[in-house]
Amino acid sequence: MRTPILAGNWKLNKTIAQSREFVASFTPLVQGASGVDIVLCPVFTALDATREAIGTAPIALGAQDMYWKDAGAYTGEVSAPLLQDAGASYVVLGHSERRGRFGVPEPDLEGQAGAVFGDSDQSVNKKLEAALAHGLTPIVCVGETLAERQNGHTDAVVENQTVMALNGIEANQISKLVFAYEPVWAIGTGETCEADEANRVCGVIRATIATGFGAEAGDAVRIQYGGSVKPENAAQLLSLPHIDGALVGGASLKADSFAAIVKAALA
Ligand code: PGA
Repeated sequence: MRTPILAGNWKLNKTIAQSREFVASFTPLVQGASGVDIVLCPVFTALDATREAIGTAPIALGAQDMYWKDAGAYTGEVSAPLLQDAGASYVVLGHSERRGRFGVPEPDLEGQAGAVFGDSDQSVNKKLEAALAHGLTPIVCVGETLAERQNGHTDAVVENQTVMALNGIEANQISKLVFAYEPVWAIGTGETCEADEANRVCGVIRATIATGFGAEAGDAVRIQYGGSVKPENAAQLLSLPHIDGALVGGASLKADSFAAIVKAALA
């Protein structure tokens, strides 16, 4: 059985003080929640303070991105060893807000999560290799844009992103990974993918992994759904067989709503 994993992706939100306040309100709400992994992903500058606020509570810390080199002349970047130094054990990779041409919003992304930070399938793969080499658990995001869905390319897009992300990875490393199916059109839009469709596409990701790395790897890998997950739709999404958790943006910013989503996973 796969342990459900609920990750709060705070994106570019919360000061150090606000991150601490969140943890102070959230921790009592999820006290005793066992059989579920909880991850908070604050901005880089709040990682250390959030770790301190979490203390010994069973809540893990994740970063929202990283570079694949450990150190050197890479102005503005942060590496796996530095994330670990700040207390992170997870790292989100290839989020749709980070994929795409650098500095240029993709033309077909009108009203959808902007992809402007230049991540490519190749850079996601390099980051994934580096994260695994350092013992960080990557949360690898894949998902189609609205135009790709409308043109019937959903399955091909997620299959391709999955295969490219895993280039050169060994089958015995797959169980250390988390995938997140994040249809780009459902992120931050209030629009959730139909639960059955989200489950189907998570199944496509699982089948792609099983084809490349064997049935055992396909069974072991945890796959989250992400895109406008909220307390009202979490229970239905999380009850489906291929959905092992959620990557939550907007609804993870408030302690009570993220706690309600965690509780939906326990039900
Ligand atoms: P959302 O974001 O829950 O605000 O749609 C999800 C994500 O981008 O991970």
